Amino acid sequence: MPEIICIEVTNRCNLDCVHCNKLVNQHPIRDIPVDLVDSILEQARPFSPRVVALTGGEPTTHKQFDELIATIARHDIGYTLVTNGQNFRDSHKVLLRHSNRLLGVTFSLEGATSETNDSIRGPNTFNRVMDALELCRRHGLSFGLQTVLSTRNVGEMDALVELAVEQGADQLNFILMRPAPRPIEDGLILDMEAAEAAEKKIAELRKKESRIKVDMTTGYFSPQPLYACRPLGLSIISIDYNGYLRFCPDISNYRGAGGAEDDTDVIADLAMRPLQWSLKALSNRIALFWQNKIDYTVMDDLAPTDYFPCFYCLRYFNKADCLDV
Ligand SMILES: C[S@@+](CC[C@H](N)C(=O)[O-])C[C@H]1O[C@@H](n2cnc3c(N)ncnc32)[C@H](O)[C@@H]1O
Ligand code: SF4
Repeated sequence: MPEIICIEVTNRCNLDCVHCNKLVNQHPIRDIPVDLVDSILEQARPFSPRVVALTGGEPTTHKQFDELIATIARHDIGYTLVTNGQNFRDSHKVLLRHSNRLLGVTFSLEGATSETNDSIRGPNTFNRVMDALELCRRHGLSFGLQTVLSTRNVGEMDALVELAVEQGADQLNFILMRPAPRPIEDGLILDMEAAEAAEKKIAELRKKESRIKVDMTTGYFSPQPLYACRPLGLSIISIDYNGYLRFCPDISNYRGAGGAEDDTDVIADLAMRPLQWSLKALSNRIALFWQNKIDYTVMDDLAPTDYFPCFYCLRYFNKADCLDV
């Protein structure tokens, strides 16, 4: 613990994707200070973290992206990033300078065709990602693809596998779309039946596909209410652009929080508190989370969507005003 330190480095973004559940480009626009990242990684040393996973907003739009990556690369730790790939012609130069610590780049793509992808991510976004993949191949950077499954692209899972293989990706990851007001309005969220069918399809692909690693992230149906994802096991910790330690990277700065203040999952301000103190506060919060969930389960107080772990957390942290449960 913690194996992965996930840092949401900025709330700035150069796209406005229909499905996005993050509060991007909202004032104040903030980038995590590079010296704070340096201090956190220094304090994390006794825990032997393996990876710093960068996300956002769009991580490559951090105003000091070059210094940020150089600082991370000075620590004895690998790093990855998930990107929309739109400015990769510039940002890959930074990655090339620090490629010794780079474990891989994940590109987000919402469909196997430009038509499907661009209907969610915006005009010409598919072509720019294809261009970025070409740059990765040319410079020997390893990369994967990541797709958020929705009503619009769930029929393209086989085609996405073919595209990922053709392009030379190491991995294709399928995320289940979490609810936020815009994707709900656009009818993008899979209903529970479709989500379970998609999960079965991923399991089949995983088994039969020898050319590429097919994977999925947490969020799919689990019959066990006490299912433990990685943040609950402290193997992933999450820090945002304010320098706050958060409960989980997938629900921080969440667009579905309605009128509520988006701070129900803030554990500590790492600019004010040592990491050691903050991790103890997080472990106490996780203990309370379990106690509450045990009680709700015994009282039969779980909605059907609560068996999708992220949906439960959205409700638990009061971020699911848009969820009809
Ligand atoms: C918030 S983005 C930040 C990184 C970068 N801007 C990008 O799009 O890859 C990280 C990942 O979250 C995914 N994501 C966005 N909205 C989502 C939602 N409603 N449910 C699940 N994943 C979502 C994105 O597609 C992307 O793969
Ligand atoms: S999914 Fe990524 S690229 Fe799209 S708006 Fe959200 S943060 Fe930006």
